[in-house]
Formats: sequence, structure tokens, C-alpha cells
Amino acid sequence: MQISVIGTGYVGLVTGACLANTGQDVVCVDKDAELVERLGGGEVHIYESQLDELVEENLEDGRLEFTTDTQAAVAESDVVFIAVGTPTGADGAADLSAVEAVAAEIGDSIDGYTIVVCKSTVPVGTTRGVGEIIEGRTDEPFDVASNPEFLKEGAAVQDFQSPERVVIGSDSASVQQTLADIYRPFFQRSERFDSSPR
Ligand SMILES: NC(=O)c1ccc[n+]([C@@H]2O[C@H](COP(=O)([O-])OP(=O)(O)OC[C@H]3O[C@@H](n4cnc5c(N)ncnc54)[C@H](O)[C@@H]3O)[C@@H](O)[C@H]2O)c1
Repeated sequence: MQISVIGTGYVGLVTGACLANTGQDVVCVDKDAELVERLGGGEVHIYESQLDELVEENLEDGRLEFTTDTQAAVAESDVVFIAVGTPTGADGAADLSAVEAVAAEIGDSIDGYTIVVCKSTVPVGTTRGVGEIIEGRTDEPFDVASNPEFLKEGAAVQDFQSPERVVIGSDSASVQQTLADIYRPFFQRSERFDSSPR
């Protein structure tokens, strides 16, 4: 399975590196060309225990790549995670402009059935809005899903690899299954895995 993660900040980089480490092929996309160049050389811009090693090993093994080319990454992906920032404004509302811009780019780039997963922290209803933006720009088949991230800076890799829970929201049973399969390695030594719909 080919996965892309759009937005290679805290959440996107940890997600990409940890998923690559389970054997998935992952392309991490960011619009910051300097950041992409540094990461492609194995230089990690944030300090998180184990993250340097995860990036270096998975780069070396060819499972992890970094690019600014959203179009190519989306076109070749089966699953696309959106992990761009959603800063809170003075009024307390999340700024969704980066998520909406990425949704438009995905709509322009999608090529064949793709699952688009919103990992950014967003208000309820945003993932449906992402779907509407994509639908307005493509005739290609796709599904959307919500998969909010709960990692804490400082323990991000550990939180991602030993999650207390993974929340997956989708109307489609097969999307739920695909995403549960992606996360299954993190629950393999645990009794806590429960993929039943709620
Ligand atoms: N940092 C945390 O501890 C944490 C924890 C849980 C959830 N979250 C949520 O996850 C989301 C991402 O947070 P973060 O801290 O990783 O953000 P961040 O600001 O560290 O990284 C966001 C990245 O997205 C890139 N980006 C923006 N627009 C883009 C575009 N159009 N195409 C490609 N790249 C683009 C930026 O260049 C940046 O590198 C937010 O919604 C945040 O609230 C963060």
C-alpha cells in the first residue's frame, strides 16, 4: 500500500516515520522546500526521542521519502493523510485554510480510488467539507475518513506507537477496515484492539 502524509510537521513527520517503520511505503509532503531537503538528508527538525533513528533507518531502507510534489504523491497513493496545521485564532476558532487548500490540491491530483484521512485537529463536520471540496474538483472515486491525532510533543513517537486508542471515523466499513489494518501493528502485543463499529 502506498501512503502519503501531507504536512510534515510534528504530527505528519511522526505519522510518516512510524507508519514506514511498520513496512508501509510512505511519502511525506510539505510545501516548505528547505524542510523537505533537510528531511530527505536525514536531518530531523524537531527533537523527539527515537525520531531521528526512525527517519534515518526508513529513508535508508527506501520506505520513506520526502517531497514538495503533492500532485505526484497523491496520484500514486492509496491512502492520503492530511496533517497540516489548524492554528486557533483570537476568536477560538480553528483556521481551516491549510486543510481546505490541501483538500483542493488532493481533488486536482487524485488518480484512482483513494482514501483521504483528516488527521489534523478540526471541528466536527470538517471531514465532510473536505469531501465536498474534493468532489467539486474530480470525478475519481474516493472516500474520506476522520482520524484525529492525540500524540503529545515530547513523547510523540512513543504515543504513536503505543496508542491508548486510535479513533477512525468513516461511513464505509471497508475504509474502517483498511485504516484499522494500517494501525494494527501498534496493537499486536495488546489485548486492546477492537475494530468494531460504534
Ligand atoms: N503538535 C502536536 O502535539 C499535535 C498533537 C495532536 C494534534 N495536532 C494537530 O495536528 C495538526 C498538525 O499539527 P503540527 O503540530 O504537526 O503542525 P506543524 O505546524 O508542526 O506542521 C504543519 C506542516 O504543514 C505544512 N503545510 C501547510 N500547508 C501545506 C500544504 N498546502 N501542502 C503541504 N504542506 C503544508 C507546513 O509547512 C508545516 O510543515 C494540527 O491540526 C494540530 O492541531 C498536533
